[in-house]
Amino acid sequence: MQQATGGAFAARAKHISKVILQRLGLLRPALRVRERMLAVRSSGNERQSVPDGLPVPPAVLRMRVAGTGDFDWFLQGGERAETAIRAILGRHGARPEQFGAMLDFGCGCGRVTRRWSACTGVHGCDLSAEAIAWCRANLPFGEFATNGGKPPLRYHDAALDFVYALSVFTHLAEDLQGAWMRELRRVLRPGGLLLITTHGAGFTQHLAQSERGCYDDGELVVHWQGVAGSNLCSAFHPEGYLRGPFSEGFELLEFDSQGALGNPPQDQVLLRKLAG
Ligand SMILES: C[S@@+](CC[C@H](N)C(=O)[O-])C[C@H]1O[C@@H](n2cnc3c(N)ncnc32)[C@H](O)[C@@H]1O
Repeated sequence: MQQATGGAFAARAKHISKVILQRLGLLRPALRVRERMLAVRSSGNERQSVPDGLPVPPAVLRMRVAGTGDFDWFLQGGERAETAIRAILGRHGARPEQFGAMLDFGCGCGRVTRRWSACTGVHGCDLSAEAIAWCRANLPFGEFATNGGKPPLRYHDAALDFVYALSVFTHLAEDLQGAWMRELRRVLRPGGLLLITTHGAGFTQHLAQSERGCYDDGELVVHWQGVAGSNLCSAFHPEGYLRGPFSEGFELLEFDSQGALGNPPQDQVLLRKLAG
């Protein structure tokens, strides 16, 4: 009991310190410092040679995409994401190798993009110039670009057959959720596929009681919108929200509860762009 009270006190103190840092405009820099510290702490098991033969990014870049700098989890998580993507595409008659052009939206340092070295027309984009510079220097089979926090992307209308965004909508502010869905729809060809992963039933323990009520009513809940795009900003998507105006212009092919094996236990959602 005493432990639980101590834990609640520590969580409250952490929350208050974040609020103070945000008011001072120092939350983003503080998050960066924390990321570096955690990256150092969770790294240490690096090896020179890995099964795919590609270089592995430094711990701080691994930390930003995987929540830990752990070398083995970076590789395993990417592999598991590939398995989950192949499985859900396969259930709807598609394979990554059949696409002429695909995009990893919010690719970070290419944890999952690196799995497609045998595919053609592989693109990745992200907010982070540091992550994109690493991808450009180390993943020669792909084309990589930075983008802004708001649309547009650099790609032409209907240029892509497949777009996936793993743990990206999970970090967008509410006003940008619809804007990015419309933008991803624009760059997909009619009939093209979009795969996103979201925080759903596997994450409801992070919601306060009042937020849980909103979530259960089908409303999006977002924490720390002021640092949108960072891992602290967390969006929680109930299935009903995903099936509503959020997915306008798409047919929702499958809601795979906690099926995002590389971003556990997120949900993965496959949509097809409707013509028109
Ligand atoms: C949790 S990481 C996941 C990275 C990668 N998708 C993966 O699963 O390994 C979230 C990524 O989304 C990126 N991101 C957040 N908002 C974005 C936006 N509006 N446009 C592009 N990338 C964004 C972040 O920079 C970060 O690299």
